[in-house]
Amino acid sequence: MAQEVRGVIAPGKDEPVRIETIVVPDPGPGEAVVRVQACGVCHTDLHYKQGGISDDFPFLLGHEAAGVVEAVGDGVTDVEPGDFVILNWRAVCGKCRACLRGRPWYCFDTHNAGQKMTLSDGTELSPALGIGAFAEKTLVAAGQCTKVDPAVAPQVAGLLGCGVMAGIGAAINTGNVGRGDTVAVIGCGGVGDAAIAGSHLAGAAKIIAVDIDDRKLETARTMGATHTVNSRETDPVEAIRELTGGFGADVVIEAVGRPETYKQAFYARDLAGTVVLVGVPTPEMKLELPLLDVFGRGGALKSSWYGDCLPSRDFPMLIDLHLQGRLDLGAFVTETIQLDEVEKAFERMHHGDVLRSVVVL
Ligand code: APR
Ligand code: ZN
Ligand code: ZN
Repeated sequence: MAQEVRGVIAPGKDEPVRIETIVVPDPGPGEAVVRVQACGVCHTDLHYKQGGISDDFPFLLGHEAAGVVEAVGDGVTDVEPGDFVILNWRAVCGKCRACLRGRPWYCFDTHNAGQKMTLSDGTELSPALGIGAFAEKTLVAAGQCTKVDPAVAPQVAGLLGCGVMAGIGAAINTGNVGRGDTVAVIGCGGVGDAAIAGSHLAGAAKIIAVDIDDRKLETARTMGATHTVNSRETDPVEAIRELTGGFGADVVIEAVGRPETYKQAFYARDLAGTVVLVGVPTPEMKLELPLLDVFGRGGALKSSWYGDCLPSRDFPMLIDLHLQGRLDLGAFVTETIQLDEVEKAFERMHHGDVLRSVVVL
């Protein structure tokens, strides 16, 4: 029997979000219904609402979530009702070329639920990133559920489902930050701060936080930054070089997604260092760099999608480290809110007032 629950939809381009009744079908083969306990508010939800991702309105928003599996369809063996899970938007197929080469974090054919959730009049919903978790329950592919230790608070666990994993993964997976490395992070929102926390966890010797907002730099310190640079006042490339003995950082993580900050990252790294782009640019942005500098400076220019994470490998490990007190995921939760406060949370996010607002259900 399909169920009716409350959920937050974006009805049309730039229209305010609203709460609607959502019809959640019973899970079919390979699917799971999850009772959502917490879901963070991410920029991507706002981009969906603004029509910046696609025109497939109405969207069921929310994708940074944790909850409890309520029911599973035929053939589901990895999770069962009662399991505490973090939802992911990278349910790998296990069969594509990337998966077969042993690099499933590049999977080309990730899974979502086959059936559609709808409004009560039958209008099909497009769930944000194939999840749609600003709702009391949601239907996903079973592979989108990653079981973790239930001792963690849901509002903390859910964060790993998107932005915080993207940042931590940019440092530890894509950037391969290791003990003794020098790291600079440009842009200290939720993603940049997570890159700082990840670098700290990985044993970086120096972590330089760069932002144009002093409030953000203060928070960055609590996440593990050893130095801060306000790039409105100080040239960040020179400052980073100065702080690293004149060399530049081993790894520079760009967590803004703009050509000018990418250029700063490019020139702020040491010879043969690594640049990681985790900030998401918009389609019209172009980058111009002397090709000779790209050649002459060597090293690696990498992009990080979802922190190059493999949910089944990374989520349980990071939750365990959190529970051991070695990774303060709770520090990313600025406030917990109700389902009907998502619109307000978008505004606060827009003004840079929060790292994460998390809807608790
Ligand atoms: N130089 C340095 N920092 C900047 C600049 C700049 N020119 N412009 C903006 N910032 C800072 C902001 O002050 C803010 O602290 O970058 C940070 C961006 O943070 P958020 O807006 O909170 O975004 P976040 O959720 O961290 O995501 C950052 O990663 O996943 C992507 O889509 C996401 O592109 C976005 C980026
Ligand atoms: Zn695959
Ligand atoms: Zn997100």
